[in-house]
Amino acid sequence: MTQRTLVLIKPDAVRRGLVGEVLSRFEAKGLSIVAMEHRTIDAGQADAHYHEHVEKDFYPPLRDFVTSGPLVALVLEGDEAIEVVRAINGATDGRKAAPGTIRGDLSLSNRENLVHGSDSPESAEREIALWFPNL
Ligand code: CMP
Repeated sequence: MTQRTLVLIKPDAVRRGLVGEVLSRFEAKGLSIVAMEHRTIDAGQADAHYHEHVEKDFYPPLRDFVTSGPLVALVLEGDEAIEVVRAINGATDGRKAAPGTIRGDLSLSNRENLVHGSDSPESAEREIALWFPNL
């Protein structure tokens, strides 16, 4: 089934010059970019995006990180795009993510893990509406 998913290429990836590397992996897989924006977010947008994490211990430094510089937000479309993107991204902790995944190949951190992908159809719908209300 064709799906859409919300992806963030996080500030660490932008700072490290990895936007092209990350995007090329999604494109090479066959996913289509249906929206994309280079943007610096404020704490309100971070809290809205990560609303299920705002009470967690790891959240304050995560909020500082995602608001620390520009990121690239995009919507990708393709067959089973939500699960496919999560497989390409790899496990949350870059130290444990499998080689061959974006995080497994390029991140050594649990927080600065380069990318975000929606984790379910419900999250994708909510996150796409939050980031791209005109889509
Ligand atoms: P993401 O897929 O965007 O979803 C939640 C984010 O919180 C996650 O990627 C990481 O950037 C961050 N995160 C999750 N768990 C931890 C943790 N234990 N310590 C630090 N950051 C975390």
